[in-house]
Amino acid sequence: MKVRRRLVHRFITFELYANFSADSVKNMANRRFCVGGNWKMNGDQKSIAEICKVLSDAALDANTEVVIGCPAIYLMYARNLLPCNIGVAGQNAYKVAKGAFTGEISPAMLKDIGAEWVILGHSERRAIFKETDELIAEKAEHALAEGLKIIACIGETLEEREAGKTNDVVARQMCAYAKKIRDWTNVVVAYEPVWAIGTGKTATPEQAQEVHAYLRKWLEENVSKEVSASLRIQYGGSVTGANAKELAKKPDIDGFLVGGASLKPEFVDIINARK
Ligand code: PGA
Repeated sequence: MKVRRRLVHRFITFELYANFSADSVKNMANRRFCVGGNWKMNGDQKSIAEICKVLSDAALDANTEVVIGCPAIYLMYARNLLPCNIGVAGQNAYKVAKGAFTGEISPAMLKDIGAEWVILGHSERRAIFKETDELIAEKAEHALAEGLKIIACIGETLEEREAGKTNDVVARQMCAYAKKIRDWTNVVVAYEPVWAIGTGKTATPEQAQEVHAYLRKWLEENVSKEVSASLRIQYGGSVTGANAKELAKKPDIDGFLVGGASLKPEFVDIINARK
């Protein structure tokens, strides 16, 4: 029975990926699927306890790495409520360890309270708080030097997409990171088209795959073949329990960064999209 099931699985896998090269399917299998929740500035003690309970009780795909981006003030609280196989992430951190920077938190502080990750360069940080490519890259450099893992966000606006500038924009954002990042082991890139964030307008699996494939090509040409093959690239922007499975079939999509739906029980279906 087991052998039959394995053969059927292999056949389905073959059918699914028949259009992709053997190398790209192998590389895909080597990159552990990674799903981040980005709660943004949402939640209170009561609702966070509820979400943490849902996640603790759910049967989550053991092959998927899960990270929760929690508001800084609740990080320790969420860390204590979540099982240890779920990581927690700050949603931002400054570029130095400590000092006179009122209102900021540092990677050292995140590590101190048990967070292993930080989300950097989210489009809301870029657009609302005017963070530049350079500042975000400096934050990435420092967070990595402090031993945190980072989710490095990039993505184009609707205006940029309509002007045919998507590739140029993501290349510029990647270039800024690449100037400061030497070792990509602890980096996950999140491609999040700004027009898809919080709008209910998801990129189609083909649109997302097209940019992810371009990013791999960019990495191969500008960083290395190894990093291009091993770096995980998440898609973000109105991912839901309903659309995650189709997106997850694409060979260059290695997970998701999820805003709105990460606050709901359907986040479990997104985590299990490859199951
Ligand atoms: P969304 O947000 O899933 O609500 O579109 C994604 C994000 O901002 O990371």
